[in-house]
Amino acid sequence: MINSPNQKIRLDYNNMMQEFVGSYGFTADDFAALEEKVIAATAAMKMKRKQGLMDWRDLPHNQAAVVDEILAYAAENADKFEAFVLLGIGGSALGPMAVQQAINHQFYNELPREKRGGYPKFYVVDNVDPERLACLFDIIEVDKCLFNVVSKSGSTSETMSQFMIIKQMLEDKLGVGNVHNHIVCTTDKDKGNLIKIAQDEGYKTFIIPSGVGGRFSQLTPVGLLSAAFTGIDIRGLLAGAAYMDELCAADDIAENPAHMYGLLNYIAMQRGMPMSVMMPYADSLKYISDWYAQLWAESLGKKHDNDGNVVNVGPTPIRALGATDQHSQVQLYVEGPYDKIVVLIGVDEYRKTVTIPKTYGDISSLGFLGGATHNELIIVEQLSTEHALRSSGRPNMTITLPSVNEFTVGQLLYMFKVATAFAGELMNINAFDQPGVEEGKNATYAMFGRPGYEDKKDELDSRPEKKSSYIIG
Ligand code: PA5
Repeated sequence: MINSPNQKIRLDYNNMMQEFVGSYGFTADDFAALEEKVIAATAAMKMKRKQGLMDWRDLPHNQAAVVDEILAYAAENADKFEAFVLLGIGGSALGPMAVQQAINHQFYNELPREKRGGYPKFYVVDNVDPERLACLFDIIEVDKCLFNVVSKSGSTSETMSQFMIIKQMLEDKLGVGNVHNHIVCTTDKDKGNLIKIAQDEGYKTFIIPSGVGGRFSQLTPVGLLSAAFTGIDIRGLLAGAAYMDELCAADDIAENPAHMYGLLNYIAMQRGMPMSVMMPYADSLKYISDWYAQLWAESLGKKHDNDGNVVNVGPTPIRALGATDQHSQVQLYVEGPYDKIVVLIGVDEYRKTVTIPKTYGDISSLGFLGGATHNELIIVEQLSTEHALRSSGRPNMTITLPSVNEFTVGQLLYMFKVATAFAGELMNINAFDQPGVEEGKNATYAMFGRPGYEDKKDELDSRPEKKSSYIIG
């Protein structure tokens, strides 16, 4: 397990400060003005944790038995299947995808099995796009797969319908009563349909602790099971999270990366910069931005504050990838409206080295590249973007991972979760509910005629009829 202080991730917020970016940057006075609020939010975080209102904070410390069970189950089953297929959506899918992309080979599924360490391929089905699911069935054989149904509520239409389709396919192929070895459920211990079905039909089940919400659940069996099935060191992930938890215990915000990150974002929102671009300079971290976008948006985008006032607040996360999006979005970030901050994520040591040959030494506009590495080029491109943002007065900060591994990714995930909760405290909103998501789920149930949703159906039926004059085509 990689686990040492030289694997500590770094948050550099120099370029959020006025002395570096000018008038849109922050000053010591901005921090001083919020000192009391920060002290109150820090105390509230501690209190809520003590009161058991932030169970996700204890996950790095209290899962030894669960980890043993996951590893034993993976050791017994990983070589029996060609593919591990996760069925889930939102918080039940984005974390597993992000960790997989971060840690494993960039073309993991295309590698021959022995180069995957003998582990199965990994797929995530997180939508009900009929084409995509049907296409998956073109490349897998269901009776050679293990399907992990992940749903905290055990009733989400997307996930449960995928499960119903796949169970039927398995039964058609293997016979009713012969499918239980191909299905493993990850769900709440007693709420929802999935746990009841799993118990009735005898599926192996892993439990999502009741106090841990979807988007905070990556470090539960939601993310740990698929990680273990694809050879990821799940103890290393948890060790990274535990290390970050220690750092996040600091009362002094200057020592606490997660609280500082939350505060910087909070000031940016107050100053009219609610857009926050996350731009990793590593394809391996691309889906960390997707995971983060859900965490940040669903937790902090709220209609009401904790006192019941209508506030309609929230940051807008934007996903970008360096260097690719330098040729797509950076023009906007450097010259467009002053409504956003940019978070660059860098890596000191990439896991591979690619050298550019000295092919065109006689062409000076190409020759300068010869002999350098892509490792150097991507870091220089990141520094160039940082420079372009800073010199055009755009607040930005950089998070650096010494290298991408379980320990640093565990730190990163945990830091963003604490930062989200801390930003929620500063904003005086509940970062842990998602009434807007529930609204959409309920509308789907109503339109599909689920019993108990008749009022919602009436509400939908009485929505204003669309005018054909506003429709072209
Ligand atoms: O963060 C959340 O709570 C949501 O994004 C859920 O994860 C998502 O809606 C899926 O819910 P469930 O796991 O209950 O199927």
